Amino acid sequence: MSNVLLIGNGAREHAIAEAILRSRHEPRLFSYMKSNNPGIASLSEKVVIGDYSNFENIKKFAKEWNIDFAIIGPEDPLDNGVVDFLQELNIPCVGPTKSLARLETSKSFTRDLVKKYNIPGNPKFETFSSMEGISDFLDGLEGIVIKPDGLTGGKGVRVQGDHFQTKEEALEYCREILAEHPLVIIDEKLEGEEFSLQCLCDGKTVVATPPVQDHKRRFVDDKGPNTGGMGSYSSEDHSLPFMSLDDVAEGLAITQKVAEAIFKETGEYYKGVMYGGFIITKNGVKLLEYNARFGDPEAMNTLPLLKTDFIDICNAIIEGTLGNIPIEFEKKATVCKYIVPKGYGLPEDHPDAKSTSSKIEVGDVGTAKLYYASVDKREDGLYMSTSRAIGVVGIADNLDAAEQIAEKAISAIKGPVAHRPDIGTGKLIEKRIRHMKEIKGVEG
Ligand code: GLY
Repeated sequence: MSNVLLIGNGAREHAIAEAILRSRHEPRLFSYMKSNNPGIASLSEKVVIGDYSNFENIKKFAKEWNIDFAIIGPEDPLDNGVVDFLQELNIPCVGPTKSLARLETSKSFTRDLVKKYNIPGNPKFETFSSMEGISDFLDGLEGIVIKPDGLTGGKGVRVQGDHFQTKEEALEYCREILAEHPLVIIDEKLEGEEFSLQCLCDGKTVVATPPVQDHKRRFVDDKGPNTGGMGSYSSEDHSLPFMSLDDVAEGLAITQKVAEAIFKETGEYYKGVMYGGFIITKNGVKLLEYNARFGDPEAMNTLPLLKTDFIDICNAIIEGTLGNIPIEFEKKATVCKYIVPKGYGLPEDHPDAKSTSSKIEVGDVGTAKLYYASVDKREDGLYMSTSRAIGVVGIADNLDAAEQIAEKAISAIKGPVAHRPDIGTGKLIEKRIRHMKEIKGVEG
């Protein structure tokens, strides 16, 4: 039997908790959350609510329940060094140390590593610690992407054409970043279709999970502001309709080389999830960024399909024996759509933007899976906050059927909610396929 400590309180961690409890090892789940997630709480033997930086609190909880190993869901505790802390207490972790979590927390670390070890995938990029040279570099780019070197909750990246238009605006944003951060990273903007490839890694072996496409924009047809992710889908053939299995293999090959480079660079094995955000361009697969954890919502697409015992996988990651176990996923399609409060993502001055603490009623959701994010279970029912509320996941033999399962379930959730009805539909997927053909210059 394993006593597992799960750190995190989102829908991603709800999916992780479910994968843990499906294990034949009959694990006991202990969850440390920033705020109570009733979905995770219902699966946990014991819950502590506390700050991710309160290591003494985490230690007390872990010692009290003789934790065998910990899984860290979000990036903040990884960046705080919770893995280093737990390892000092002889509690192994699925999740990288603070230094290796730089894969996500320092965009410059990753770009420089990929460059140094001649790994394919980097776009044209440069890192600056002052404004010197930025103007000249911008002149040589066809499109510009600007990022601060640090965690910004997905809100720091600005893309020319979406968030700003002119070179002057680009320079102004660089100035803003450098006033707060030591480095600014400027990438050439790439055109193509994006996919997420979450890879399991024990430091030596890297195993890809089925690729997923996320939808960051708030509104139908990819309109509106970027969000934490409004939903995502994956296909039954473990590719995506606009890409080939060769593209998946390319993403995996890059990630394998990066895992090797991390070891050469630091002498430490990366243990956890290497989630590559890739884009398929006319020049092949390029790396947008890495995250040092499962994706949210992407974890909700992949973990429910896992056929291999998740506790066996965690133990193999910790022991460095991932190469010894076959890791299998159901050949099913999945569509995840986030239920959000109506005001989510609206401009602050919009009358609906401030909707808080609204009650929702969940009726018969059929075979769909529900993963709670930011919801509060009170005596009289379920309440939303201002963030994403519930990930609704349809799983079926094909995308159409999975999308319908998700939509039917969503129609049974009543209250001041919104979602993106277009995610996973044939119409949107056709658009992605057409876009990819245009990018690659293919007729028809
Ligand atoms: N899907 C975006 C993220 O997990 O960061």
